[in-house]
Amino acid sequence: MESLDGTEETLRGQAHIWKLMYAYADSMALKCAVELRVPDIVHSYGGGPVTLAQIASRIPSPSPGTAYLARIMRFLVRKNIFSANRCQPDGGHESHETLYSLTTSSRWLLQGPGSELSLAPLVLMENHPWVMSPWHYFGDCIKTGGIAFEMAHGRKVWDFASENPEFNRLFNDGMACLSGVVVRGIVEVYKDGFESIGSLVDVGGGVGKTLAEIIKSFSHIQGINFDLPHVVATAPAHDGVTHVGGNMFETIPHADAVFMKGIMHDWGDEDCIKILKNCRKAILKKNGKVIIVDVVLKPDGNGMFDEHGLVLDLVMMAHCSGGKERDELEWKKILEEGGFPRYNIIKTPSLSTIIEAYPL
Ligand SMILES: C[S@@+](CC[C@H](N)C(=O)[O-])C[C@H]1O[C@@H](n2cnc3c(N)ncnc32)[C@H](O)[C@@H]1O
Repeated sequence: MESLDGTEETLRGQAHIWKLMYAYADSMALKCAVELRVPDIVHSYGGGPVTLAQIASRIPSPSPGTAYLARIMRFLVRKNIFSANRCQPDGGHESHETLYSLTTSSRWLLQGPGSELSLAPLVLMENHPWVMSPWHYFGDCIKTGGIAFEMAHGRKVWDFASENPEFNRLFNDGMACLSGVVVRGIVEVYKDGFESIGSLVDVGGGVGKTLAEIIKSFSHIQGINFDLPHVVATAPAHDGVTHVGGNMFETIPHADAVFMKGIMHDWGDEDCIKILKNCRKAILKKNGKVIIVDVVLKPDGNGMFDEHGLVLDLVMMAHCSGGKERDELEWKKILEEGGFPRYNIIKTPSLSTIIEAYPL
């Protein structure tokens, strides 16, 4: 290996390390803006343009630190979360006031009016210290084969959620907002798939948001939202949805079809095969099916969300016991062993893909 010289290529290598070393600055600045509801404040002024003082005036504090806020805003403008223009308030030649507006990215961060599709609760969840601390244990996981979340918190994620109502709420809210975003794409591309179903059980359906959204478009479906008892205990009522608490490793309520979004990637292959075998028992009819919504990994792909699939794979490493993202071959293997040898892969306009699998 040659020593480091002063060529541009070498400097680029160095710059790349600086970028990765402080990559958390991106997520922390984003989290700060969401926590302070800056996107909502700008939205309340029609999406901008708005001055720093106007933003600061709506931050719930008797004396907001506008100098700090300006630095966070400058960084987020650089990251295209907000846009900025200089204005000349007194009509003079010196431009000294910056006006901020929403961009197509910050429109995904609203929590009040206009937030029907929002990723804000997920930003707050994924960047919470409880959720970030397992990331510090990857090296130990590699050395010992242990589970990062357990190393950080002394128990598995679902046990932590059942014992900690605040984490339970944070997690379920994050999942529910993601559902809102992903389900829109699913409903668009999988119309025929839902038309033919009379009853649908959403396994690990969280607080029922996904099923509620599906049933809004396909009101003939009888929905069963199935999740752990502490999750369904906090679930709001939804038209056409019955909440059932239980354990998918024991038994799954019967229905024409089983839906599972973001479930299989939480578990290792053996656990997935157990869940699929229980899905097989739950679908009574021969033409029953399981509809899996998860990532189909393309590690070298250059689609809009392909790199994010690899990020999600590490998210699974941080949070789950054996969870991982899978490429098509890995999916094929667990589907076959779980009793669903025939499958179709259907792309959606989101980071998730539909895998529709049949028993025969
Ligand atoms: C990653 S979340 C996905 C939630 C939802 N499907 C969504 O996409 O928003 C995984 C869900 O699986 C549920 N879960 C974990 N273990 C379970 C079990 N043994 N039986 C039923 N649900 C379980 C969790 O409570 C959680 O709601």
